[in-house]
Amino acid sequence: MASSLFIVGEIGVNDYLVAFAGNTTVEEARAFVPHIVGAVRSVVTEVIAAGARTVLVPGMIPLGCEPQLLALDQSSDHDPASGCIKPLNDLAELHNRALNGMLRELRRANPRTAILYADLYGAVADLIASPRKYGFRDKPLAACCGGSGAYNFNMTAFCGAAGTAACADPSEYVSWDGVHFTEAANRHTACATLKANSPALLDSWTAEARRRIGCT
Ligand SMILES: *[C@@H]1O[C@H](CO)[C@@H](O)[C@H](O)[C@H]1NC(C)=O
Ligand SMILES: *[C@@H]1O[C@H](CO)[C@@H](O)[C@H](O)[C@H]1NC(C)=O
Repeated sequence: MASSLFIVGEIGVNDYLVAFAGNTTVEEARAFVPHIVGAVRSVVTEVIAAGARTVLVPGMIPLGCEPQLLALDQSSDHDPASGCIKPLNDLAELHNRALNGMLRELRRANPRTAILYADLYGAVADLIASPRKYGFRDKPLAACCGGSGAYNFNMTAFCGAAGTAACADPSEYVSWDGVHFTEAANRHTACATLKANSPALLDSWTAEARRRIGCT
């Protein structure tokens, strides 16, 4: 337990996604935040009690950039630069502030445990703001696999259904099926997390080892 890395999450993404695919408003979803952050706290507390000494807690993704939610969205409150739905990204940032406040309390209460934060929001938002910089295509909000439309997402023609097809090169896309990220996007996020939390570890690897995991 003491020599292992525990990755706790991602917890809460589905609570928001499923709510927004129904009729829940952003205002109603704000009331979920303390409950979801409380659930993360209880999981982190349990693994620490079981002997964990290094725990990595992922934050909320930029919900407003999810193709599924973009395809369902009726509003026009989109960020002009990214095209993402602003109130949903504001909610994700609210969640992350509450999560980080809770993590600060847990660090004070558990000084012998490294409680690390994975900034999924920052890593994905960076990819969406500058896709070319990281080898992704220019339209980062459309899914690789699924129905047609601006975001390649259609709930009744989900990736794998008759008539749908995957893009030629998933590594150029942020979203695989409108709900889940591609391996290329996850690699970018993992690399950003390593750089933020453990730059010395990354520096200690050979260029070849870094290239192999796409973290150059
Ligand atoms: C959303 O609201 C409509 C109209 O009130 C209702 O027919 C529908 O069942 C609701 N959907 C969900 C998932 O709750
Ligand atoms: C979604 O897919 C269904 C089934 O293929 C199709 O009937 C419908 O027109 C599509 N909707 C949009 C908005 O493309």
